[in-house]
Amino acid sequence: MCFGYSGVNDGTMLYDDLFLRLEKVRWTLGEDIPFDDIDEGKLTDQWVHDITQICLTELSALYATEMFLRDFYADIDFCSFISVWFYEEMKHHLVLRKYLERIGVPIEEGDLPKLRLTFDEGPAVETLTMHYCGEQRLAHWYRAFSGSADEPVIKQIFTTLATDESRHAAAYAKYLRKAVKNNPSCVLDILKMSLWMLRSTNDHPKHPTTMTEPSVVAQLEDPTYLVRMLNMYLPGKDHEQPVHRRILALMSEITATPMESTKDLLSSIRQQQIILETA
Ligand SMILES: [Fe+2]
Ligand SMILES: [Fe+2]
Repeated sequence: MCFGYSGVNDGTMLYDDLFLRLEKVRWTLGEDIPFDDIDEGKLTDQWVHDITQICLTELSALYATEMFLRDFYADIDFCSFISVWFYEEMKHHLVLRKYLERIGVPIEEGDLPKLRLTFDEGPAVETLTMHYCGEQRLAHWYRAFSGSADEPVIKQIFTTLATDESRHAAAYAKYLRKAVKNNPSCVLDILKMSLWMLRSTNDHPKHPTTMTEPSVVAQLEDPTYLVRMLNMYLPGKDHEQPVHRRILALMSEITATPMESTKDLLSSIRQQQIILETA
């Protein structure tokens, strides 16, 4: 286990640059989502139900933020970035809640506190890796939901959220690069967690909201919604290829070893183990 995550004291604050980049491309709730154009005739009860579950799942940023600020206590740079991430994730919850309000299916505030969770402390670099992979996967899911929905405004919302999730993955990738630069021995834990995250199926999908004990998704009124949606809109095993490609690209970069498959990743893990044992 790598205890040496240290995103601190190397003089570079990634937050400064990330703040400006994310500010430049940010969409607004008031102007960019055409709520007046919602075509309710193109919505089914199933879609309304699933949008409600996704809206509540996005609220998980609240517990994740508490966890990040606790587990990355000494890393001012990363904790600063989390302020932006938290804002954007809560905006995902809000845009879906506003959509549901517009179609007459409001989420009652009284239901929200039931979803509060606290997670055990975790090793920072592995948490970071898990979230990097999770953001890549969620972007992939949202793109598929956008492609499958008939209602044009929810289609647009899912595309918008997918783009944000991809940007979040890119930001986490920057912090992973920084962690490796500050402490190269962290690479092994990053590779191992990536391999574990890549071994995901529609029936047991791996995402930070599904993997903790208890998990966020397990607290929902319908804990089966995600598995059902994945099997409906992303059937088959091969749909994960874009997620694998993106995650393997970062692993290739941080190890300077080309990787195209989980088998390559496994070999790289063995290589890193030998390097650490002989160091
Ligand atoms: Fe989100
Ligand atoms: Fe995200």
